[in-house]
Parts: sequence; structure tokens; C-alpha cells
Amino acid sequence: MQTITVNASTPYPVHIGPGLLERAGELIAGVTGSRTCAVITDTTVEKLYAAAVCRSLQEAGFRVCLHAFPAGEQSKNLGTFGGMLEFLAENKLTRSDFVVALGGGVTGDMAGFAAAAYQRGIDYIQMPTTFLAASDSSVGGKTAIDLAAGKNLAGAFHQPKMVICDTDTFRTLPPDAFADGMAETLKHGLIADRDFYRFLMTGDVRGSMDEVVRRNVEIKAAVVGEDEREHGKRKLLNFGHTLGHAIEKCSGYTVAHGYAVATGMVLASRAAERLGYSPAGMLEAVRAACRRFDLPTECPYTAPELYAAATGDKKRDGGSIDVVVLKEVGRAETVRLDLEGLRRFTEAAL
Ligand SMILES: NC(=O)c1ccc[n+]([C@@H]2O[C@H](COP(=O)([O-])OP(=O)(O)OC[C@H]3O[C@@H](n4cnc5c(N)ncnc54)[C@H](O)[C@@H]3O)[C@@H](O)[C@H]2O)c1
Ligand SMILES: [Zn+2]
Repeated sequence: MQTITVNASTPYPVHIGPGLLERAGELIAGVTGSRTCAVITDTTVEKLYAAAVCRSLQEAGFRVCLHAFPAGEQSKNLGTFGGMLEFLAENKLTRSDFVVALGGGVTGDMAGFAAAAYQRGIDYIQMPTTFLAASDSSVGGKTAIDLAAGKNLAGAFHQPKMVICDTDTFRTLPPDAFADGMAETLKHGLIADRDFYRFLMTGDVRGSMDEVVRRNVEIKAAVVGEDEREHGKRKLLNFGHTLGHAIEKCSGYTVAHGYAVATGMVLASRAAERLGYSPAGMLEAVRAACRRFDLPTECPYTAPELYAAATGDKKRDGGSIDVVVLKEVGRAETVRLDLEGLRRFTEAAL
């Protein structure tokens, strides 16, 4: 097991390694005085891993209640969120009890938000079971649900008490989950670590999953440690996300997050090169990386469609929006655009 500390306002550990589901109870018992928890998961992960986690928690002396919601991004809404809050209340969780979010990014984001909202905030533990959730969403404390107007439009910053990532759980992931998680992994290399990018382009990535997750978490933890609430540096993690979120929205959320972010990074790099924000070669660096991991590089939507979807994005701040551009592989900057600037950026992206 490897452990990385996230130096947020209250620091917390991220444990990464095989066989950790069975150790969840023992690890969590070390950081809480509570005896009661609610495990929140989706119906797919429930069948695979809920029993092992509940058993481990019970053996460590916890009273455990289990709540599962239908798997998929379509569930990331107010109705499912409300169901979680009602479940916590029905099971009489108190301010000192905690939630265990067991699953992918949808579960982590929603159960984290439920923990942030229930009784004005109770503790929660992230137990990511997808490559994407382990490498990105389980760390950093951003929690959210989607609204009809767009993704992640309601949520809270609420840091977990601990993250436990059992990398054995990746074995049951469907084949496209690897590529899906690779998009955010490539993003980390592209914005922050040229050596990591080089390894991803040439090394045995599939054979080094524990290491890849560890490096992802280190990069994200460093950014979050400096800028927990996204006033500055953390915005760099949004590389590819303005247009990526627009693609997700245009698709009615049928395109997975990582796939949309991959295309979003390609589009943003093309626009940034054409408009002179990035040096020549950045588009090719991003596109080659996406191709290596079978991620899509072509966008099926038009510039007006993307622009309309992007202007509903929460990162729109008054009349302006920050987009992230690469200065070189391993270094990125934000550029503030007004709405006309965003329209030109979107047109230059296609
Ligand atoms: N909070 C953040 O900082 C942040 C960052 C990136 C992404 N996100 C969010 O994360 C979400 C995407 O995450 P995701 O791709 O993990 O989605 P997800 O949670 O929907 O998981 C994808 C699918 O895999 C299944 N699954 C999960 N673990 C499994 C396993 N071990 N074996 C077999 N099947 C398994 C799930 O049931 C689901 O059907 C999006 O909603 C996105 O907005 C949040
Ligand atoms: Zn993302």
C-alpha cells in the first residue's frame, strides 16, 4: 500500500494498492470516533464489492447501512441526491457519523455532496472503484450533481476524511473504462509533468496501474494543496473541460466524461495554436496521446452547438470564462475570454 497526503485545510491520506477493500474497516477506524456509517454505492458496484466493504466495516465494529442507486451519469441528479439524504435521515445518522462513497465518480460526487449537505456536513470516505475516480475525482473535495442546464451545477467543496483506492477493483471494469481514465491521466501529464507524459507515451501503462494512479494523485494533491477552492492554480485541472463538458451536454450525457475531455483537450489545443496562445506542436502532442489510448479526437458537433452548450457552463464568471492552454508539454496557463472571445475560440477549435 502507498499513501499520499493531500495537504488541504485539513490534511487527509490517500491509500492506494491491492486488497484494500478488506482493510477498509481497519483503516477507517483509525480516523473516526464514530461507530455508524452509511455505505452509498450504485447497483453495479453493489453486486461486486458492497459485501466485502460492509463485512470489513462490521468486523471493525461499525454499524453499517447500505444504499444503492441505479448506475450511470443519468442518475447524477436531484432525485437521486434527495433519496440519499432521506436514506441518511431514515437511518438516523448523526452529525458525528460518516458516509462511505463506494464506486466511480458519479457515486463519489453525489455521496460526497450528500455528506456535505446532510446536517450541514458530515464526514465521508472516498472508495473509488474506477480508474477515473481513483486518478481524479476521489481526490480534491469537489462534489456535485448535474442539473438540467448542465453538469455539476450544484455542489460543494467538501474534502473526504480519507481515500481508499483498491486497485484490484479495476479488474472488473469494462474495456473502455481504461481509456476513459486515461484522458484525465494524460491531462495531468500535459499540464504538469513532462516526464509523466513521456512515460505514458512510451511505457507499459497497463502494467503499472498502481504507479499511474499514484502519480495522478500526487499531481492532483499538489494542485489542491496550493489552491483548494479553485481561485487560481486549480483551474489548470480544467484543461479540455470547457469544450469537454459542452460535448457531454450536446450528447445528452451519453459520451463518457473522459472521452469528452479527450476531445475537449484536442479542440482547445487546436484553438490555442490557431489563436496564438500555444506554440506549434501542442495540438499534435495532445492528439497523438489520445490516439495512443484510443480516445476520440474528432468532435461530431458544430461550433454554434458547442458554444451554446459551453455558455451554460458554471465556469462562466459574469461575462467571462477561463480556458486552459498549453505553453509546453508539462506547463499550462489560463486565458480569460469574454463571450465573444469564447465564440472565436470555439470556432477556431473545429
Ligand atoms: N469531483 C471531481 O473532481 C471529478 C473529476 C472528474 C470526474 N468527475 C465526475 O466523475 C464522473 C465520471 O466518473 P466514472 O467514469 O467513474 O463514472 P461512474 O461512477 O458512472 O462509473 C462508470 C461505470 O462503471 C461502473 N463501475 C464502477 N466501478 C466498477 C468496477 N470496479 N467494476 C465494474 N464496473 C464498475 C459503474 O457502475 C458505472 O456504470 C462524472 O460525473 C464526472 O463529472 C468528478
Ligand atoms: Zn474531469
